[in-house]
Amino acid sequence: MALTMEPRVKHPILSLIALSLLIMPVQAAEDLRVAVEMPDMMKSHMLANMRDHLLTLSEIQSALAKGEYEVAADLAEKRLGMTSLESHGAAHMAGFMPKGMQEIGYNMHRAASRFAVKAQEAQVTRDLPRALGALSEVSQQCIACHAGYRLK
Ligand code: HEC
Repeated sequence: MALTMEPRVKHPILSLIALSLLIMPVQAAEDLRVAVEMPDMMKSHMLANMRDHLLTLSEIQSALAKGEYEVAADLAEKRLGMTSLESHGAAHMAGFMPKGMQEIGYNMHRAASRFAVKAQEAQVTRDLPRALGALSEVSQQCIACHAGYRLK
């Protein structure tokens, strides 16, 4: 009887250990993203751009929610689109990025400019689903780059 009871007493601890062993490999999962090295100044500049990208997406969404297509188009073109490239210092930063990363960045700017056109058209057509579809192509580029690259 004592022998059968003993494992029962230990059981909660053993199962905790077993559980933590199960969870650990997941937490320590290897980070397979390519680590990109750049000077500190450049890094903080890039991360500041990133935070502005996120803010811009949110501002675009709230403009769309209000049916302010022209505002959404303007935000996208000036802050994310091809027009934003210079103010972001993109040419300077691109030099530090691997080719694949540069391409995703370029695709994002192009997708944002395409969205800007669709949003302008929606001003007339009121075709919100089409504009949203174009906006999701922008965020897909954010996701693609974040999945593949990180800063060192
Ligand atoms: C060409 C690559 C690329 C694209 C495109 C990109 N990002 Fe990033 N982003 C990065 C990298 C690299 C980091 C740093 C991640 C790390 O080191 O873990 C980052 C970090 C961020 C951060 C964290 C900023 C901070 O202060 O830590 C935010 C927010 C962000 N990105 C938003 C966005 C949004 C929104 C988009 C799309 C509109 C976007 N990014 C597009 C590469 C990209």
